[in-house]
Amino acid sequence: MVNKVVVTNLNTCEKIAKKISKGIDCEYMKTEVSTFPDGDLYLKFKGDVKGKKVIIVETFQPNSTKAMMDIIFAANAAKQQGAKKVVVCAPYLAFMRQDKMFNPGECVSAPIMAKLFNENVDKLLTVDPHLHRILKMKDVFTIPAKNLTANSVIGEFVARRYKTSKKNLMIMGPDWESYQWADEIAKIVGVKDTVLHKDRHSARNVDVKLTEEVDLKNKTIVIVDDIISTGNTMIKACIKSRKLGAKKVIAIGVHGLFVENALKKMDKHFDEIFSVNTLDHPTNKIDVSPVFIEELSKRI
Ligand code: R5P
Repeated sequence: MVNKVVVTNLNTCEKIAKKISKGIDCEYMKTEVSTFPDGDLYLKFKGDVKGKKVIIVETFQPNSTKAMMDIIFAANAAKQQGAKKVVVCAPYLAFMRQDKMFNPGECVSAPIMAKLFNENVDKLLTVDPHLHRILKMKDVFTIPAKNLTANSVIGEFVARRYKTSKKNLMIMGPDWESYQWADEIAKIVGVKDTVLHKDRHSARNVDVKLTEEVDLKNKTIVIVDDIISTGNTMIKACIKSRKLGAKKVIAIGVHGLFVENALKKMDKHFDEIFSVNTLDHPTNKIDVSPVFIEELSKRI
């Protein structure tokens, strides 16, 4: 048992935090998070953090703004009580999509979120963050901020689940950014992949087309993406696959936000829909804990 390390969670991720503590062989400590009668945040560690490295596991859903505040208060409280180092494991890191001013007067949230981490936390580990206009974590984070990937756990899941249909299996990325998931997952499973081109006309309206000639006839297509939000990207990719003769179409999202009835809409098109448990959702079938355990085992 590693004595100088303690793992805790705040409002979310209790199961993941417990698995991580077991996986890296250190103490799991409960933290009470509630509110005072006037609504102020109340936070209490149920154990001693003095001289320890404190690992806070917390995801930014269902309430990203609250999660941000809870993390900042917890990190500072740990330091007030003599913690040596605070590491945050955030399976889903919010605010990354607000990475530019889309309309005059709007808040550019991503660098503000990063600044709060930079000023209050020693290290951040997250999974498949949305890096688009911000190309690297280093562009906004000055602390060590590592983007881990769920590719290994998704790849193992797909390989296990579709073992018998492997010769007809193909992995698909619905837009060019998703090549990083499609390519790697396909390699793990030992099948081919293809990546579509996506035109986004608005937040809810996208179109996709093939970028190469591929034969999808009678194939089982597993479409993988980092975020499933309105589900429209996935649905368009599914419709395209069916038109080209795909027999079975499966959706896998790392972060299953499923906003605006996305799951209900997607259900009509897909044979199966899964997500990684970076945030709580009924489609969670793939556990992210091993990704954190592997990283924390290397450097503890
Ligand atoms: C965009 O670049 C992301 O990788 C996802 O494709 C996007 O966030 C999905 O959004 P929606 O589900 O609303 O189409």
